Amino acid sequence: MIIDVPELSLVALVGISGSGKSTFARAHFKPTQVLSSDFFRGLIADDENDQSASADAFETLHYVAGKRLTAGRLTVVDATNLQAHARAGLVKVAREHDVLPVAIVLDVPEALAWERTQAREDRTFDRRVLTRMSRDLRRSLNQLAKEGFRKIHVLRGVDEIAAAEIRYEKLFNDRKDEHGPFDIIGDVHGCRAELEALLIELGWDLIRDEAGRPVDAVHPDARKAVFVGDLVDRGPDSPGVLRLVMGMVAAGHAICVPGNHEQKLARKLNGRNVQLTHGLPETLEQLAAEDDTFVAEVRTFIEGLVSHYVLDDGKLVVAHAGLKEAYHGRASGRVRSFALYGETTGETDEYGLPVRYPWAREYRGSAAVVYGHVPTPTPEWINNTICLDTGCVFGGRLTALRWPSREIVAVPAAKEYYAPVRPIFAAPEKPEQGLDLADVIGRRHIDFGYGTTTVPAENAAAALEVMGRFAVDPETLVWLPPTMAPCTSSTVDGFLEHPSSAFADLRAAGVDRVVCEEKHMGSRAVVRVSVTGAGDAIWTRTGRPFFGPDLDEALLARVRAAAAPIFAELETDWLLIDAELLPWSAKAGGLIRDHYARVGAAGRAALPVALSLLEQAAGRGLDVAGLRDRLELRSAEIDGYSAAYRAYVKPTDGLSGVTLAPFAFLAGAGVSYAKKNHDWHLALADRLVAADPEIFTPTRRMIVDLADPASEAAATEWWLTLTGAGGEGMVVKPWAGLAVTGEKGRLVQPGVKCRGREYLRIIYGPEYTRPEQLDRLRQRNLGRKRALALREHGLGLAALDRLAEGAPSWRVHELVFAILAAESEPVDPRL
Ligand code: CTP
Ligand code: MG
Repeated sequence: MIIDVPELSLVALVGISGSGKSTFARAHFKPTQVLSSDFFRGLIADDENDQSASADAFETLHYVAGKRLTAGRLTVVDATNLQAHARAGLVKVAREHDVLPVAIVLDVPEALAWERTQAREDRTFDRRVLTRMSRDLRRSLNQLAKEGFRKIHVLRGVDEIAAAEIRYEKLFNDRKDEHGPFDIIGDVHGCRAELEALLIELGWDLIRDEAGRPVDAVHPDARKAVFVGDLVDRGPDSPGVLRLVMGMVAAGHAICVPGNHEQKLARKLNGRNVQLTHGLPETLEQLAAEDDTFVAEVRTFIEGLVSHYVLDDGKLVVAHAGLKEAYHGRASGRVRSFALYGETTGETDEYGLPVRYPWAREYRGSAAVVYGHVPTPTPEWINNTICLDTGCVFGGRLTALRWPSREIVAVPAAKEYYAPVRPIFAAPEKPEQGLDLADVIGRRHIDFGYGTTTVPAENAAAALEVMGRFAVDPETLVWLPPTMAPCTSSTVDGFLEHPSSAFADLRAAGVDRVVCEEKHMGSRAVVRVSVTGAGDAIWTRTGRPFFGPDLDEALLARVRAAAAPIFAELETDWLLIDAELLPWSAKAGGLIRDHYARVGAAGRAALPVALSLLEQAAGRGLDVAGLRDRLELRSAEIDGYSAAYRAYVKPTDGLSGVTLAPFAFLAGAGVSYAKKNHDWHLALADRLVAADPEIFTPTRRMIVDLADPASEAAATEWWLTLTGAGGEGMVVKPWAGLAVTGEKGRLVQPGVKCRGREYLRIIYGPEYTRPEQLDRLRQRNLGRKRALALREHGLGLAALDRLAEGAPSWRVHELVFAILAAESEPVDPRL
């Protein structure tokens, strides 16, 4: 005895006490699949037999069943389910989750059940209870279908129950094992000639009958066509289109989902009273010229169509009007209705047409959803969904999407066959991608490929504040630079940071070759430039614009011009560049004035006065030598401190005096350059400098072989010279690129900074070089900073990857947002 159960369904066991429901459930289902009313009564009342807990127990059971069904898991309810109201609750849960309710009835003789009951310790009711149950069961049997159970299996007697075997059925819409490749074709609407032309363009061979009419098509590469529905109405030859598509479907060369126009045609053919509008009269007229057999075949064909398909391991969903994620692979009236008609808000627009609910803008699923239904001038991906209806019958084009290559192929309509109510071919609007607050706000767990991270709600709120008030357009803001950890604190006498530690750090991470890049003391700047200039922007490490629209645009224009040959060479129409904007004072002028300069000025004002007073005191024969030595040291330290910040203050006027030092090329159209080595990055940077030496500053660098002490020594000398001349220091990066992995495939820091002795004076205070201060500072904890740097780095790399693969913008944005949120972590700002 085979019991067919849809893979995803809500199974209600029905039977009197002692009929063997729990035994049956144990034999056929996993323990976690079975929700038993006894168990839930126990959960609520510590007593499985406490009938007063039943209402709460069932409420809880329904809740858990709902969670399982949302997650797409088969759920079995082990309860007597003998009363209509109890079953109605289950049918409701099933409907709410768009799965089929199934009943399995265990019908055993009452005498046997009574015998079993008497043998049980946990059942104490008397015989009359069982008799009443038996009566309820008899009454239930012919109610189940009416109540909405879509499959009803009645097992009569112990032998049938013992012999029963569960067989799982796929849903009709489950074609996950079909991998194509597919040619998915938009709304044809009776445009037979254009359909033929499109199929030929796609490489199909048409097969014709004696009368020369195409009745099938085959593709030499065994591709399969998928029709998104609305084959008929409005156009010149709906029967011709049907004949071809029906032939292709019958031969297994095509798959077809129904459109609302097929649906209405079938109703008309079935004699229902439908309005003869929207091109249906034309179709009926055309069909009148066909013989009855063909018309009957059309009716059967349409009635057999399944409203949506899940294809290619679940990566592709096709439905005429699209489908929201919660409905993928589900079966219910409302799923069918959504697939055929979409969801409307109940309003009408200025043309009297229904306003559609913007499900695609809110779509967050991983399956690509391909659909038609609403004509658009050009197909555009929105959150991994695409509409292929390009209004062929209205004089537009007939469009196909090749899967999995996602290539668009289209042929023009020979003419306008039907006048649209609403103008369709006006200037195409940029579709709203629909970043949504819900994607970023609250506590969020993100798996970004290189790791996972949890963004605490309060960090998300802080990031939202910055993003909402200050940042450039979040659609533009596709990457933020990670913070960078300093090298391990040095033990070299007089130094807190020293190249030997930086080299040791990277050697320990398994890196054998590094590039030392001069660390420009300015402000980090990320630049997006494109051939056309549309969407170009420059932003800070927290996503803010730099100067103001005019000056930013003037700067971008210079970058754009210098990058022109690089666009061509890299075959990209845009580039994302990581750079430093100089001088530091251009952005940080206020900070320097209010913070560093005040300390310097106070020291320089007070100490000379104090020293001259000590001079007088010494002249009077007082012993102030100790105090004078200390103040002289302080005075020298303050001078060093003042010199350090003054080196980074340069006057600028508009763009004059402002320069950019580019050092990495992060991404271009469809590509992340994270795996390119730093010779590649710096060579491109050098070309920008050569193209416009006024606006670009070169980055001095030195390549170091970590196995060669002489190479290291040379780099250390170089660093001492750089920092001795007022340079901030250097960044030591794995030469092989931005995305270097070490042990167990873990990401290596993209760079560690090694700051100069004098520069660190403005970070740790004028006196930090005293031995006792250095000893204390060497104990600083770098762990948090390193972990943060690595996490932000991974998030940024993942953002570049997602950008390259054309992921929906919310997927890129959630990572960029997480980087910004990570900046709220409490980490020592001096690191
Ligand atoms: N039993 C049996 N042979 C079967 C099925 C059940 O002997 N083929 C016994 C079980 O071992 C148990 C009793 O009959 O002691 C009742 O079976 P159970 O599966 O618990 O019945 P339910 O229908 O679940 O009863 P209730 O509604 O009371 O939970
Ligand atoms: Mg039981």
